[in-house]
Amino acid sequence: MSKMSSSAKYLYRRRRQLYDQMIRVNHSGELAADRIYWGQMLVLKNDPKHCPVIQEMWDQEKHHLSQFEKLVVKHRVSKSLFEPLWSVCGLALGATTAAMGPQAAMACTVAVEDVIAKHYDNQLRQLIDDDLEEHKQLIETIKQFRDEEQHHYDTGIEFGAQNAFAFKLMYTVISNGCRLAIKIAEKI
Ligand SMILES: [Fe+2]
Ligand SMILES: [Fe+2]
Repeated sequence: MSKMSSSAKYLYRRRRQLYDQMIRVNHSGELAADRIYWGQMLVLKNDPKHCPVIQEMWDQEKHHLSQFEKLVVKHRVSKSLFEPLWSVCGLALGATTAAMGPQAAMACTVAVEDVIAKHYDNQLRQLIDDDLEEHKQLIETIKQFRDEEQHHYDTGIEFGAQNAFAFKLMYTVISNGCRLAIKIAEKI
């Protein structure tokens, strides 16, 4: 066995691990996001001002989720063990914040989308550092989703997130929760 082949094997294994981790956590995150907007819609479906904008974001999350469903299959990634938990937590988070009012729902959106956009930025940096050509497809996908999550964040701000009662507290609690969930879903 030459030195080359063992280093190629190492590289292959490292990239496998990178994809496994990234696709698992992103799939979990998009699942939770889909459930958050679903929960918000359940509560705010008769709110003519906020309903269309939440529906629009929800539709994008559905697309994100379906793309990561495909990537899970394509790269034979093991989904997060806690998938049912992400789903239930997302739905509960969306519904409870929406029940507190549309501005609280938007505050939830702002907290979640801020963490997700930064998380995608992190992944982009890692992939670009590793090999721009090799990871071209995944980079394109994540870049597009990052921009859309950023747009969701902006929408939340535009629709009065910061006017929600106890915005700072909500923001801190929700964003810390998301960061913890990301750490867990990357591993298992
Ligand atoms: Fe998303
Ligand atoms: Fe989003």
